[in-house]
Amino acid sequence: MAKRIVVSSDHAAIGMRQAVAAHLGARGLSVEDIGPKTAESTHYPMHGEAAAKAVAAGDADLGIIFCGTGQGIMMAANKVKGIRCGVCSDTFSAAMIRAHNDANMLSLGARVIGEGLALEIVDAFVDTAFEGGRHGTRVDMITAIEG
Ligand code: RB5
Repeated sequence: MAKRIVVSSDHAAIGMRQAVAAHLGARGLSVEDIGPKTAESTHYPMHGEAAAKAVAAGDADLGIIFCGTGQGIMMAANKVKGIRCGVCSDTFSAAMIRAHNDANMLSLGARVIGEGLALEIVDAFVDTAFEGGRHGTRVDMITAIEG
């Protein structure tokens, strides 16, 4: 079954979010774009929370979120239990947060990187599997911090 990916952003990243959604859709992945639809000023925490809750509930396998820097919306997403989200501006980190950290969400900064790089980062994230083993022990330790 195709991976199900939920995407969301704030107003600073509408164009990048839509480009990523179109790219993943063209690759045959199942993409749910939960908005927002307009570029009206909004608040990144609620969009990070909404995508994170979809992933935590199992409604999506992975989440990709966006704001100006990728930082604020990542902080909000990581407050949701079960979420491991990292901001990436390079493909190596995007692959490694999957391989070693079992990240289930990726955050991108639309004011930091260009669209071409964003698509390559997203592909690296989506196409890399968690390696498990000793990395599983460490991810379990992260989860234990949640209580
Ligand atoms: C919005 O102006 C901006 O603060 C937001 O997109 C993001 O960069 C926050 O981390």
